[in-house]
Amino acid sequence: MFDRNKILQLIGVDVWRLRLQKKPPLNDKSKDSWVTLQNEVKSCELCSLHKTRTQTVFGVGDSKADWLFIGEAPGMDEDLQGEPFVGRAGGLLNEMVFSIGLSREKIFIANILKCRPPQNRDPLASEVAQCLPYLERQIQHINPMIIIAVGRVAAQNLLQTDKTMSQLRGRIHSFGAKKTPLVVIYHPAYLLRSPSQKFKAWEDLTLAKQAISKF
Ligand code: URA
Repeated sequence: MFDRNKILQLIGVDVWRLRLQKKPPLNDKSKDSWVTLQNEVKSCELCSLHKTRTQTVFGVGDSKADWLFIGEAPGMDEDLQGEPFVGRAGGLLNEMVFSIGLSREKIFIANILKCRPPQNRDPLASEVAQCLPYLERQIQHINPMIIIAVGRVAAQNLLQTDKTMSQLRGRIHSFGAKKTPLVVIYHPAYLLRSPSQKFKAWEDLTLAKQAISKF
């Protein structure tokens, strides 16, 4: 009796196997807690950003995604549309995501802050302290296989460090009690200003893909 897979391997043909689905479908309780969280964020007044926002930006995508991208905070377009990364930087992020064989629908995208800081200033420590518990609950629910910290502010807040981007990118960190792999990439807004650095984001996303393929 010949072994088909062995023969294919011997002649150098990659053998692909269908992976088992990692996550079970959402049950009613889990759906409820996600909706409760969405509603809490929508009506949040824990910091003064609620006074200047048009609306909160909860996040978008598959609430059980393997890949979770986390940016800094909504900008003007995101504040108006209620969705993260929809401006020019968002267009580039979409292309980056597409380049590794994913799409916005297959991942989840969130931010450290759910409301736009005026004039797109950096988030204040007090704002992050109030908002981070929402993100932590999102992470707990999504239970991603990998987290991509998009830009310095996201990386520094998630990893509780003040290291620079060049110190943080190019390696696999781990996040939280579950030690979820976390990779830091340059923010697409920076890459729009410095396109010659795009290859580094490509390297970092490739690194993330390698990390996830070990599971
Ligand atoms: N920049 C971010 O970090 N997040 C967004 O949602 C948009 C731009």
